[in-house]
Amino acid sequence: MSQPKPPALLTTSAGNPIADNQNSLSAGPRGPLLLQDYQLIEKLAHQNRERVPERVVHAKGWGAYGSLTVTGDISRYTKAKALQPGAKTDLLLRFSTVAGELGAADAERDVRGFAVKFYTPEGNWDLVGNNTPVFFIRDPLKFPDFIHTQKRHPRSNLRSPTAMWDFWSLSPESLHQVTILFSDRGLPTDVRHINGYGSHTYSLINDAGERVWVKFHFKTLQGHRHWTNDEAARVIGRSRESTQEDLYAAIEKGDYPRWKMQVQVMTEAQADEWSARTGWNPFDLTKVWPHADFPPIDVGVLELNRNPDNYFAEIEQAAFSPSNIVPGIGFSPDKMLQARVFSYADAHRYRLGTHYEALPVNAPRCPVHHYHKDGAMRFFRNDSGNPDAYYEPNSFGGPREDKRFAEPPLPLHGDADRYSHRDGNDDFTQPGNLFRLFDEAQKQRLFANIAAAMQGVPEAIQRRQIALFAKCDPAYGAGVARALGLEPADDRLKGSSATDRPVEVGA
Ligand code: HEM
Repeated sequence: MSQPKPPALLTTSAGNPIADNQNSLSAGPRGPLLLQDYQLIEKLAHQNRERVPERVVHAKGWGAYGSLTVTGDISRYTKAKALQPGAKTDLLLRFSTVAGELGAADAERDVRGFAVKFYTPEGNWDLVGNNTPVFFIRDPLKFPDFIHTQKRHPRSNLRSPTAMWDFWSLSPESLHQVTILFSDRGLPTDVRHINGYGSHTYSLINDAGERVWVKFHFKTLQGHRHWTNDEAARVIGRSRESTQEDLYAAIEKGDYPRWKMQVQVMTEAQADEWSARTGWNPFDLTKVWPHADFPPIDVGVLELNRNPDNYFAEIEQAAFSPSNIVPGIGFSPDKMLQARVFSYADAHRYRLGTHYEALPVNAPRCPVHHYHKDGAMRFFRNDSGNPDAYYEPNSFGGPREDKRFAEPPLPLHGDADRYSHRDGNDDFTQPGNLFRLFDEAQKQRLFANIAAAMQGVPEAIQRRQIALFAKCDPAYGAGVARALGLEPADDRLKGSSATDRPVEVGA
């Protein structure tokens, strides 16, 4: 039998050996303590710095490592190395809820984040998506307002159903996502049984410099599983960490969760034709692309197969950003995506510090050369071997750009203005279509879930929201009205329009 290794020597963080880690240094056995007990001071000071700010949204999360193996062939659309036939790319996936804080219970009705960092040979590609193909808003100017309604009320310090439904009932573009949120899929049992969606329209660019628009999907191979509100309440009574328990245990026992990766592709000409035919904007995050028009194409399989060793270092410090793209994958005009390209890296600089990309979990698995210079925690070397080449252009062989990686130009037209994102937009057909897909039992659960979430909300707001549901489908409005005990035949439930001025409601 092999002898266990002797334990390593305990040291200070400067490497000085420690003689006693049980008893502080005192003048006499009963104290007081001596200031020279640096070890005690270091332990207490470190503890005071053990937290970083939690993410302003998606604070509660669960993550694991794995890989993407490409089994299909979409090389006609993209030159991205990670998407070529046979490619296998290591990745980190962090799931999350949106609204709850770091200590929130897992089994809550909320959108689930689905953020993937692919460590590709061309740098990191981050696809920061959700378990829903659409979102609540379509103009990023509304994002902070929307998130404020999901967080705590300044006075009560409680979450406010009134704020949520006030905002949603004044924002009909949210109907599609609201319908998903209060359907069965809004409360998954765990994250192995959800789909992931890139949600936005992105672009793919091939070797010939041709661009197509694309949506990314990850379909769970475990099947979908959901809890009712009552079941979730019982789960939370038993454990607030049900998702962490499930994901960690599955991976530890080798039951690796997998997702089928698919893309939907739209050429620029198809985008124009589809837009003219349906009136929908291919870059509108509140819309899906119908599968009948744009059939999903299989790309490969994503598998999670390794738990992190240190949750803080590898999951809490993970920094995902839609700005991280690789040659062959690009952005689109989607206004929401455009704002996210700025917002995430900014959040990371605040949350984790200037050099967050150099932390091991975020560091690309390819050479990195840039001319950013100093700042807190500059612990890595980033020159290309010659310390004289610390600016650009230089005569000392420093890193240079390469035009081969330029994207093809994208024609744009239109006057600079603040265009209404509400006028002329059809916010009702797609959520109505989704509603009509539900069977009777699913519809009843949808009504009940909405009614439960609207408890305590002023009736005027309830009625304004019901009028919106009725515009999606009269049965939708009537069902919610019934579940709330409001008279469905009441004209006021049909009358108001979402773009009406806000009704005054009492506190
Ligand atoms: C996290 C901003 C829309 C998915 C975050 C964070 C910010 C943010 C600041 C925290 C980042 C951090 O501290 O690490 C925004 C803005 C949006 C927007 C400004 C719209 C204008 C969306 C959309 C999706 C999404 C549409 C999904 C399609 C996520 C996910 C995370 C996140 C999954 C957590 C990432 C992680 O696991 O670390 N968002 N967000 N967000 N957001 Fe967004």
